[in-house]
Amino acid sequence: MLYTSIFAACALPLAVAAPLCTRENNTTCGTALCNLSNVSQPTNALTPPSADLRLVLIAHGEGTQNYTCATPESAPSSIGAKAELYNASCEVANPTEAQNSIIRAQAIGNHFFADLTTPEFDIPRLGNTKSKKVEEVDAPNPSADIKWLRLQAQTDGSTSDVKFIYRLNTVGGHAPTNCEGRAEGEVVTVQYQAQYWMYA
Ligand SMILES: *[C@@H]1O[C@H](CO)[C@@H](O)[C@H](O)[C@H]1NC(C)=O
Ligand SMILES: *[C@@H]1O[C@H](CO)[C@@H](O)[C@H](O)[C@H]1NC(C)=O
Ligand SMILES: *[C@@H]1O[C@H](CO)[C@@H](O)[C@H](O)[C@H]1NC(C)=O
Ligand SMILES: *[C@@H]1O[C@H](CO)[C@@H](O)[C@H](O)[C@H]1NC(C)=O
Ligand SMILES: *[C@@H]1O[C@H](CO)[C@@H](O)[C@H](O)[C@H]1NC(C)=O
Ligand SMILES: *[C@@H]1O[C@H](CO)[C@@H](O)[C@H](O)[C@H]1NC(C)=O
Repeated sequence: MLYTSIFAACALPLAVAAPLCTRENNTTCGTALCNLSNVSQPTNALTPPSADLRLVLIAHGEGTQNYTCATPESAPSSIGAKAELYNASCEVANPTEAQNSIIRAQAIGNHFFADLTTPEFDIPRLGNTKSKKVEEVDAPNPSADIKWLRLQAQTDGSTSDVKFIYRLNTVGGHAPTNCEGRAEGEVVTVQYQAQYWMYA
C-alpha cells in the first residue's frame, strides 16, 4: 500500500507534482523511478548478458582515454583511461524525470586502470570491480567514437557483486592518428564519455 502510493506519486508527474529526489541515493524515489528491471541495452552485437544477471547500475563516465607516444615516429598506444562516474540509472529508465539533473550533479565513483589490461571501477556504494576486456565491437559511428566493450569482473581484487560491465554509447576517445610532433614518451589525453552498464 505504501509502495503503491509512493509509486503513484513518483510515476505520475502530470497527476501529482513530481517530487524532487534531494539525494542521489534517495530510495523513496529511486525504487519507483529508477527500476532497471525492464531497461534493455541499445542495439549492439556484443554477447548479451545471461539470464541470471541483473542490471544494477548504468554509470555515465566522463574523462579521458590516455595514449602514449614512444617516439614521434611510433603509433600512439593505449595506456588506459580515467573517468568520473555518475549515476545514470534514472535518466535511462525515466529520461523525462526532473530529478535527473540532481542525481547527475554528484559523482558516485571513479574509473581508472589498475594496470594496462585491468580497467577498474571504484563505486563506494557497490564496491570496486577489477575487470578484463572479453569482447569488443565497433561503435555505431566508429570513426568518431571508441569501441563498445564487454568486460568481465575478476574475482581477484574485486569487492562488488558485479559480474559483467558493458561499455556502450561511447562518445569520442580515439587516439590521434600519429605521434608527429610529440615528445618521446608524451602522454596524450583524449576526452571521452561512455555508459557503463553493470550486471550482478
Ligand atoms: C527524498 O525525496 C523526497 C521527495 O520524493 C523528499 O521529500 C525527501 O526529503 C527526500 N529524502 C532525502 C533523505 O533526501
Ligand atoms: C546517502 O548519500 C549521502 C551522501 O550523498 C551519505 O552521506 C549517506 O550515508 C547515504 N545514505 C545511504 C543510506 O546510503
Ligand atoms: C542510483 O540512483 C538510484 C536512484 O536515486 C538509486 O536507487 C541507486 O541506488 C543509485 N545507485 C548507486 C550505485 O548510486
Ligand atoms: C522493479 O520492478 C519489478 C517489476 O517489474 C519488481 O519485481 C521489483 O521488485 C522492482 N524493484 C524495485 C527495487 O522496486
Ligand atoms: C516491467 O514489465 C512488466 C511486463 O511488461 C510489467 O508488468 C512491469 O510493471 C514493468 N516494471 C516496471 C518497473 O516498469
Ligand atoms: C590519464 O589522464 C588523466 C587525466 O585525465 C590523468 O589524471 C591520469 O593520471 C592519466 N593516467 C595515465 C595512466 O596516464
